[in-house]
Amino acid sequence: MITAYPITLAQAADARAIAELSRDAIERGLSWRWTERRVLRSILEPTVNVAVARREGELLGFAVMQYGDEDAHISLFAVRAAERRTGLGSALLAWLEATATIAGMRSIRLEARAGNAPAKAFYRHHGFSESGTNPGYYEDVEDAVRMVKQLRPSALPTAMPPWRPTP
Ligand SMILES: CC(C)(COP(=O)(O)OP(=O)(O)OC[C@H]1O[C@@H](n2cnc3c(N)ncnc32)[C@H](O)[C@@H]1OP(=O)(O)O)[C@@H](O)C(=O)NCCC(=O)NCCS
Repeated sequence: MITAYPITLAQAADARAIAELSRDAIERGLSWRWTERRVLRSILEPTVNVAVARREGELLGFAVMQYGDEDAHISLFAVRAAERRTGLGSALLAWLEATATIAGMRSIRLEARAGNAPAKAFYRHHGFSESGTNPGYYEDVEDAVRMVKQLRPSALPTAMPPWRPTP
């Protein structure tokens, strides 16, 4: 456990609750793309972590993050409405950041709905900055704002000598 909240990896049985929270909290006004089946695929995918916070078995929040060769990408992130502003989102994000740092990721990236002021404020609070927009990204209903947090420098210092095997 990395934070004060018990954050664990999701199990297959969490897929339905995650999908329903995504539909209600993230995908409202759009087609429901993160169905139970898609969430289940992410839970089983080796390059993806689906993290959940629970209380007495009930799902309070979750995050889905994909780990690439260099950068990690948050695909989905939500906290139940009744649990917001209690630090739960911060605990989930701290868990993601810790795992991405340990995995050697250079940055964490994500897209948020341009009109999602709470999400943008949340990520800014945690050191993310806006790096651009994707017009019409959400089914031409809404633009996306891209956000990024650098975890380590993107390149090795140029002054560093090339590695040579010792004779
Ligand atoms: C964005 C979200 C995950 C934040 O989760 P949370 O548990 O409420 O976040 P925290 O309590 O850890 O908030 C940490 C800080 O972020 C900022 N913040 C969070 N919600 C905010 C809001 N509605 N307005 C302004 N700032 C906010 C604040 O600085 C807050 O610190 P404070 O409460 O001491 O002022 C949550 O609002 C949510 O699930 N929203 C719906 C789904 C969503 O938009 N997901 C993101 C998709 S990219």
